[in-house]
Amino acid sequence: MVIPNHVAIILDGNGRWAKKKGMPRTYGHIKGCDNLEKICGVAKDLGVKYLTVYAFSTENWKRSKEEVDGLMKLFRNYMKKCLKISAENKMRVRVIGDPTAFDEDLQQKIKELEEYSRQFDELHFQIALNYGSRDEIRRAVTALAEDVKRGELEPEGITEDTISGYLDTRGLPDPDLLIRTSGEERLSNFLMWQLAYTEFYFTDVEWPDFDKENFVKAIEKYNQRDRRYGGVKEESHV
Ligand code: IPE
Ligand code: IPE
Ligand code: MG
Repeated sequence: MVIPNHVAIILDGNGRWAKKKGMPRTYGHIKGCDNLEKICGVAKDLGVKYLTVYAFSTENWKRSKEEVDGLMKLFRNYMKKCLKISAENKMRVRVIGDPTAFDEDLQQKIKELEEYSRQFDELHFQIALNYGSRDEIRRAVTALAEDVKRGELEPEGITEDTISGYLDTRGLPDPDLLIRTSGEERLSNFLMWQLAYTEFYFTDVEWPDFDKENFVKAIEKYNQRDRRYGGVKEESHV
């Protein structure tokens, strides 16, 4: 079985999972967070090199104050816990998205985790927090325009690689497989540039229940795909 080098996951369905159990949405997020810890280990054991997860979108601020506060609390705890997880899995952690909207202390925790985990490279783990693809592209275009204004870049010299280099994911390979849990089949503003040639896998399993077996199933499906990148399938000459 070919293991995808980079797997991206839209962690969806925490709220519905909790509701089915008669519990508040925040409980679903707590369980979803526990599951994320497990799935990092699973990804590493399977030989996945890059794992990128969508944990909070630029649109998720529209949720109730209670839910947003619950998520912020969870992220604070998680950043601390993730120091241990990163050591266990020898995993480098990066946060993609715009952290400047978060409270100072959370921004600080993110920085500490990124700094600490720099030493590891067995698994590269990206957490998308206050991330939106359109916002990422907007920030990239602003930075690029500033460099043009300063004379550091010629408009004629802008290539696709130049643009990739201004995105939050600079230096990372594009995802090979995207998984979205919980039945929704849309991107919800996730990695629109980076997913141009990625294979998509959708499952009805809600994120807190997504386990190793489900992960393997997604990879098996991925193995049945015929990736072409615009070319044609190679014919056998026998
Ligand atoms: C995903 O679960 C986690 C976040 C977006 C933070 P949801 O909270 O979207 O759960 P559903 O989709 O409402 O069930
Ligand atoms: C996408 O899920 C964002 C994250 C998983 C963080 P949402 O649940 O917010 O997306 P929509 O609203 O269903 O499109
Ligand atoms: Mg959702």
